[in-house]
Amino acid sequence: MSAKIGVIAGKEGPFPFALIDRINEMKVDGITAEYAKIPDTRMAEPCPYRVIVDRVSHVIEFFRPYLKNAALSGTYVINNPFWWSTDDKFFNYSLADKMGVRVPKTVIVPSKAYPKDTPPERLSSLAFPVTILKTWADLWAAYHESGERVMVLQEYIPYDHYVRAFVFGKKYVMPVRYDPEGRQYVVDHQHLSKELGERIMRDALLLNQILGYDMNTVEFAVKDGVPYAIDFLNPVPDSRPEVITPFYYEWVVEHMAKVCIEYAQNGHAHMPVEPLRKMKESLAPRKTETPAATLAVERPKVVPPAPEPRKKAPETRKAEPQTKSKTSAPKKKTTTAKPAASKTVKSKKK
Ligand SMILES: Nc1ncnc2c1ncn2[C@@H]1O[C@H](COP(=O)(O)OP(=O)(O)OP(=O)(O)O)[C@@H](O)[C@H]1O
Ligand SMILES: [Mg+2]
Repeated sequence: MSAKIGVIAGKEGPFPFALIDRINEMKVDGITAEYAKIPDTRMAEPCPYRVIVDRVSHVIEFFRPYLKNAALSGTYVINNPFWWSTDDKFFNYSLADKMGVRVPKTVIVPSKAYPKDTPPERLSSLAFPVTILKTWADLWAAYHESGERVMVLQEYIPYDHYVRAFVFGKKYVMPVRYDPEGRQYVVDHQHLSKELGERIMRDALLLNQILGYDMNTVEFAVKDGVPYAIDFLNPVPDSRPEVITPFYYEWVVEHMAKVCIEYAQNGHAHMPVEPLRKMKESLAPRKTETPAATLAVERPKVVPPAPEPRKKAPETRKAEPQTKSKTSAPKKKTTTAKPAASKTVKSKKK
């Protein structure tokens, strides 16, 4: 077996190269990794990579449609470009709530303003800075400043502990003690009780299995021993060693390498083409080959019942107005010109 793993990344430090080196050092079954070079591509063209790790499509738009096209040819993309394109925080909170993961009470607020002459379907969800609101005046001020941005209003959790968990391949979890004010990861192997640790592992896995992410971090604010999922939409988690500490950096490189190799060996298609083709066949209209004359012969004869002898003269009724049957004009085939990407939902830069 031979399979190539491609990594696409921007300028983000050593992680992408460390990942490539680690996969190659593991020397597994003809599996190799490289920094992917992606040329301009014709539609439905095959992709040379069995797995692609995407660290950049949230900032360079070209890659998202390219990766969806690659998925069509059977490439396993980390993270799934179909999921990522449709993601938003509010949906994620609702989904988590339905799955029994504790989240703060959250509402989505209609935008304060809309761009002039922009039809509503062009409005997309935008990242918004988090503001802590203490009074109604704070709330109104924030709302008035929000302009066209879409705001989520959420209950503040006065946490006594904060955890950021790396979750890779929907199976490897590393819950790390995190200091949100200092935006710092803290190496501490004793920061969770057994019970809290298990609950966080379970919730973090569940969210990623449902959201379909293979490379993500999930944040929990812990209050009175209960973990509230705060942010679980970080599909390009910061992986700089100076931020996540050398200890967790090593864990991240090792486990992402394992995930890539596992998908190179057994990755399933995000967008399986064969079932789609079968579905197309079952949907295709059946040809009527039976000529009209045969139909006329085969049609069962309907014998009208014999009229009963009338005893009384029938009451006279007003004739109902006859409605004309509508004959629809045959549809003309037209061709249209359209932009390559009809709408791209912007993802947040991590
Ligand atoms: N409901 C909440 N209760 C308590 N703290 C919160 C809450 N929501 C957000 N925070 C704090 O604000 C920080 C940023 O929130 P969040 O991660 O949801 O926003 P973000 O847009 O992803 O921003 P960032 O890129 O900084 O992570 C969190 O790490 C947390 O410290
Ligand atoms: Mg966040």
